[in-house]
Amino acid sequence: MPIEWDEENGIFHLLNDRTSYMIRIVHGKYPAHLYWGKRVHALQAAAILFQKSRSFSPMTDPSNPSFSLDTLPQEYPAFGNGDFRTPAYQLRSEDGSTITEFVYDSHEIYKGKRPLEGLPAAYTEDDAEADSLVITMVDSKLGIGLHLQYSIYRDHDVITRSVSFENLGRRKVELHKCMSMSVDFHHSNWDLLHLHGTWARERHIERQPLITGTQSISSARGASSHQHNPFVALLAKNATEEYGDAYGISLVYSGNFQAAIEVDPYQSTRLSIGINPFDFIWLLMPGETFQTPEALLVYSHAGLGGMSRTFHRLLRTRICRGHYRDQTRPILINNWEATKFNFTEKKLKQLADASAEVGIELFVLDDGWFGQRHNDKSSLGDWYVNKKKLPSGLNGIAEYVQNKGMQFGLWVEPEMVSPDSELYRQHPDWCLHVPGRNRTLSRSQLVLDLCREDVRNWLVETFTRLFESAPISYVKWDSNRNFTEVGTAALPPERQKETAHRYMLGLYQILEKLTSRFPRILFESCSGGGGRFDPGMLYYMPQTWTSDNTDAVERLKIQYGTSIVYPAITMGAHVSDVPNHQVGRITPLEMRCDVAMAANFGFELNIDNLGAEDKKTVQQKIQFYHHIKELVCFGELYRLLSPFDGNDTAWMYVSENQDQAVVFYYKTLATPNPPLFRLYFRGLDPNRVYQMSNGYSYTGDELMKLGITMSSIKSDFFSKVFYLEAEPI
Ligand code: DGJ
Repeated sequence: MPIEWDEENGIFHLLNDRTSYMIRIVHGKYPAHLYWGKRVHALQAAAILFQKSRSFSPMTDPSNPSFSLDTLPQEYPAFGNGDFRTPAYQLRSEDGSTITEFVYDSHEIYKGKRPLEGLPAAYTEDDAEADSLVITMVDSKLGIGLHLQYSIYRDHDVITRSVSFENLGRRKVELHKCMSMSVDFHHSNWDLLHLHGTWARERHIERQPLITGTQSISSARGASSHQHNPFVALLAKNATEEYGDAYGISLVYSGNFQAAIEVDPYQSTRLSIGINPFDFIWLLMPGETFQTPEALLVYSHAGLGGMSRTFHRLLRTRICRGHYRDQTRPILINNWEATKFNFTEKKLKQLADASAEVGIELFVLDDGWFGQRHNDKSSLGDWYVNKKKLPSGLNGIAEYVQNKGMQFGLWVEPEMVSPDSELYRQHPDWCLHVPGRNRTLSRSQLVLDLCREDVRNWLVETFTRLFESAPISYVKWDSNRNFTEVGTAALPPERQKETAHRYMLGLYQILEKLTSRFPRILFESCSGGGGRFDPGMLYYMPQTWTSDNTDAVERLKIQYGTSIVYPAITMGAHVSDVPNHQVGRITPLEMRCDVAMAANFGFELNIDNLGAEDKKTVQQKIQFYHHIKELVCFGELYRLLSPFDGNDTAWMYVSENQDQAVVFYYKTLATPNPPLFRLYFRGLDPNRVYQMSNGYSYTGDELMKLGITMSSIKSDFFSKVFYLEAEPI
């Protein structure tokens, strides 16, 4: 029974074979957090919530002075009647008050997991895969119901949480804050890990001890952002890649978010994640319901690596959807770094010829094919082909590519409009804006107002026509700026602060329509590289362009950091030209290929300019990738050496049945007279013998315990890939 209800003690126990999550309804009113961690069989769990009377902590119940909401570990805390810590929600009623008194009303336990209307969320394919609990709390004075939604997966150590608010009364209410989850840990002996960055430097890892007080990461940019990924983890002090407690929380959302972690004076830790309450107010009218995005909660006692592998499996199989979910992806070439805007049909055909020769499977035409788009200053919105550049149209180039045995893919940036475009001249009011205010440009463009139904309909129709107009097998869906002057003509003044979230709902609606209308198109999301690399986007588009930075050395950190949450199959990784466009570094082709083929392999350079030797290398790497792509795409990731710790990076993928593995090792700079160093593998079957591509056989046990000695390497930017195959049992 994966969700147990102990009525006598008021305890809900969500459990699978490995994880337990326990909630207790205290005094029949307050959902308190009891436990989250390794699966437990407990007899006295109710007693664990021992509370001490604390000066200045308000008395929730005068007959029991030690009981106070201020020190109670809670599941969804409020502010205003005793708890001074970070609240999970705040409502404002018509009389201006933000005081609420939600108490337990009822609950429902059911098999399976319901979808969240209009929002991406983890799903099940069969009701047996998950069990769900809804705890309903009601503020009877306000007439508002609050539903705490939980699901636990049978085969994934994942609990999902979200909340919905239902206006059951006759008066309107404003939601000022409504996080997707909140959880209280009874101590603060944690390190906080999160992923931060900027354009061309996404998802770098930061790990530091918690401090007393509040730390938070957030985005108010209208996108999950390059700057902070909607993810945080709390790690036990002794947690390493493979050992120790790791709690990871990821938000299935692509817009403004906040994750806050507060350590109180009694050293308990409160963690919450959800829509950023800054610049957000939602008006909830009688009869209406507001659903928050979903949070994915992963617990692992096998360290950060265990946590990542759990996220990978869940995102790959129960967030990503559609035809390509379980397919390795075609090796692509994208013309962007090869030509930028400066291409002709002839140039593209030459690139296609050279690409087909080396074995590339998909040719992607990037920005610059439409309207008068000769640079980034115009034409977004004018989604018709520029016949001067492409005299035989999209069909002509697509057919040419197909005749070369490749598929054809196209870049689009549907959410944006250039002021210098026919669309903007016709509909200057179709962008996000505030009447009478400046419209701040970024990359010379504005954001279309997806809160408007007419804009959404136009987008769906325009892109349906476009995707039907040529044999398009792949679409890169780009988005190259963040929001300013956030306002919409679709909403009255009192609803303006709903704009950013309604934009996201509008975007999700468009993506749902287009991706289900074109199930055989492989969609890749992009936002100036990885500015919207989040589970929300992956629900619609099963891969994301990881970063505009394709330098092999920089990519080690970007891909390593991204792998903390996201599986390799979701990470677009391309070999580009040297000197690298972003950092000017010259790295060998060998290393560039070895870094890119550790994820979703592709190219972004002028193959035709490569010498014969380099073309041969590319061909060999492509052949080798075919050999390992199942492993990379569907294998279990073990990170061996971190680029954030030094000069050496290594990671490996192991097939589920431990039959095969591939190990990637990279050394950034040569070191003089270096110490001898051993590389220890992980995740293998200790009892099996593996034949390795260096010509030797080893037991899994010795590769993991003795490791292999790496000979000293006298060159910068060195890489080596080992392939392992287990001998039949
Ligand atoms: C930003 C993307 O990240 C690039 O790969 C490229 O598609 C450009 N946009 C095109 O404008």
